[in-house]
Amino acid sequence: MIIREAGSGDFEGLLAVMRSAPWDKTQYLERTLERRNVVVAELDGHILAYIVWNLEFFSLPFIWLVTVLPEYRRKGLASRLIAWVEERCTNQRLYSSTNRSNVAMQRLLEGRGYRRCGEVDVDPGDAEVFYHKTLSVNMGDDGLEPPTFAL
Ligand SMILES: CC(C)(COP(=O)(O)OP(=O)(O)OC[C@H]1O[C@@H](n2cnc3c(N)ncnc32)[C@H](O)[C@@H]1OP(=O)(O)O)[C@@H](O)C(=O)NCCC(=O)NCCS
Repeated sequence: MIIREAGSGDFEGLLAVMRSAPWDKTQYLERTLERRNVVVAELDGHILAYIVWNLEFFSLPFIWLVTVLPEYRRKGLASRLIAWVEERCTNQRLYSSTNRSNVAMQRLLEGRGYRRCGEVDVDPGDAEVFYHKTLSVNMGDDGLEPPTFAL
């Protein structure tokens, strides 16, 4: 198993993983792939999972999307992808979010030490829950709390 940045030749593999989730992110993946914002978990030449992250959340690191092929879930793949991103965000606060209904993603983030920092009613009836994790012992929480927002 290797974790690596995705390239243009990975598009079809990303789409295959995407189709296992209940949403169409084809154009989004095309755009983020061009910007080199996608990282994949690959085994024997097959993409099993991907993560999309960049600095487009108020210039702060943000994990936008993680998807793992159903038959490879609960094997630590998403956790390994998030760890890959975390390693590149030392001395920063890394953010992510998920719908209130997405218990799997919430457990995943909370298990990795992410703290809830707000909710936004993006999808009416299924609010987006925001999380953050501070990735340095030198960045204590004192004075560094992000704004809490809720609608
Ligand atoms: C959410 C998702 C990315 C998790 O991927 P994964 O590779 O299965 O996650 P991991 O194996 O790294 O899980 C790590 C921990 O997260 C928690 N977790 C993961 N899936 C869970 C589930 N379905 N229910 C409860 N807890 C879960 C557990 O604590 C797990 O540790 P454990 O297996 O030792 O109990 C995957 O279920 C998925 O692709 N879902 C569809 C797409 C999606 O909803 N993405 C998130 C929105 S951006």
